[in-house]
Amino acid sequence: MKTNFNDEIVKKFAIATVLWGIVGMLVGVFIAAEMAWPLLNMDVPWLTFSRLRPLHTNAVIFAFGGNALIGTSLYVAYRTCKADLYMPKLASFVFWGYQLVILLAVLTLPFGYTQSREYAELIWPIDILLTVVWVSYAVVFFGTLTKRKEKHIFVANWFYAAFIITIALLHIVNNLQIPVNWHLSYSIYPGAVDAIVQWWYGHNAVGFFLTAGFLGMMYYFIPLQAGRPVYSYRLSIVHFWALISSYMWAGPHHLHYTSLPDWTQSLGMVFSLILLAPSWGGMINGIMTLSGAWHKLRDDPIIKFLIVSLSFYGMSTFEGPMMAIKTVNALSHYTDWTIGHVHSGALGWVALITIGSLYVLIPRLWNKKAMYSTKLINTHFWIATLGIVLYIASMWIAGVMQGLMWRDINADGTVVYSFAETVKATYPYYIARFLGGTLFLAGMCIMLYNFIMTVKSRGDAVALDKLEGAVA
Ligand code: HEM
Ligand code: HEM
Repeated sequence: MKTNFNDEIVKKFAIATVLWGIVGMLVGVFIAAEMAWPLLNMDVPWLTFSRLRPLHTNAVIFAFGGNALIGTSLYVAYRTCKADLYMPKLASFVFWGYQLVILLAVLTLPFGYTQSREYAELIWPIDILLTVVWVSYAVVFFGTLTKRKEKHIFVANWFYAAFIITIALLHIVNNLQIPVNWHLSYSIYPGAVDAIVQWWYGHNAVGFFLTAGFLGMMYYFIPLQAGRPVYSYRLSIVHFWALISSYMWAGPHHLHYTSLPDWTQSLGMVFSLILLAPSWGGMINGIMTLSGAWHKLRDDPIIKFLIVSLSFYGMSTFEGPMMAIKTVNALSHYTDWTIGHVHSGALGWVALITIGSLYVLIPRLWNKKAMYSTKLINTHFWIATLGIVLYIASMWIAGVMQGLMWRDINADGTVVYSFAETVKATYPYYIARFLGGTLFLAGMCIMLYNFIMTVKSRGDAVALDKLEGAVA
């Protein structure tokens, strides 16, 4: 009997990923333009930077990244377990429920309905809906694992599992609030405890949403596209346990020089330095999967997306621990250096691994031989890479410059530069960042076109199982 793999659900997630990606990045480009030309808000409250910034972060992290993670995790689970998706109707509810959460975010954030907790801005009724959707997602994912026909649970599933469980925990603990009316609520935690809970959440959202889940993607799609097994399966298990046990403790590096007890800040710094080891272990494991087939890096633009994403992952996980050192953070904090770090991870790692994986996935889901145009994938790769370099290089230079200007003190103790002077000096870099973002967005539009043409094309079906044998 031919197994029903429920590709239909994953197709929906793939479409949603690309569409929300374009929306989220369009908002990103717009707020980047507002930083250079503030008049663009035209005095309309919901067009202001402050209202649209959380819309951008929610759209790119949870709508673009979230749809990619849920879709690929289900795909990886049912393919590596050689089982049907558990409760397909519930999976359908997960898709539509998740889109409803995103739609509600679009309808509330620009109008100022927010909890004012970074990356957890959604108001309490939406939080409750998200909890229901997330638990349903966990039931579908873990249910599929329990139905597996393979004895072994492939390592990619471990990373996805850690992502699902941890996000549930973070979401619930960080959002414990006392509602006052339908849109207003207050956190149950007082003062500094509230701050540490927020950054325990915020940092682990980076660790488990923006990292562990995408590492699951990496462990499945790189071997699949390279046609080779994971470089070291043993290293992947060590990578898993080392990463998940050290991430949890690093959150206080977001709160250096605050009213947090000093020892918690030092603990955050030390664990951030330790984090370098598992991060680089994982990166090396991914890149070395290509060993013996390095020519693919030259010939196959999809492999370029996947491997370059790992290089950016390595870069941002080197930069992060450095920024966590208190003396370095004294310079980088509050500056655009942080924004450069964020986007080397977000665009370089998260977006590139997602795009590469989707290029692997789309022809398989729609039963086509390949993407409509390899040339367009190559163009997308170069435009996106150029965009990222423009974005992060401009923010690094701007950030270091701002930090140095702010701390420049005259002999009599007064500051050398006024704040307005530092803003003026940053202006050209904001234009460069806007151009970089526009290039990256243009790449996404090329991808959408290639996607549509692939679905419409009349390619032959591929013997999928044969190809995927390489992974297990
Ligand atoms: C076309 C691409 C993009 C552009 C032009 C863009 C632009 C921006 C801008 C202008 C900001 C505000 C910076 C500030 O507050 O000074 C921002 C913040 C942020 N963006 Fe993006 N972005 C893009 C893509 C992405 C993607 C794909 C992700 C995640 C997957 C992402 C995640 C974030 C995060 C987490 C922040 C908040 C950073 C912080 O608070 O330190 N962005 N982005
Ligand atoms: C070993 C890994 C990493 C460490 C130790 C680390 C460390 C740091 C540090 C020290 C900051 C600056 C905090 C501040 O001054 O406010 C920061 C900010 C940030 N990092 Fe990382 N980072 C790592 C990897 C990543 C990756 C891979 C991503 C994205 C995919 C990422 C996303 C972010 C975001 C979104 C922020 C800004 C948070 C905010 O203030 O809103 N980080 N990180």
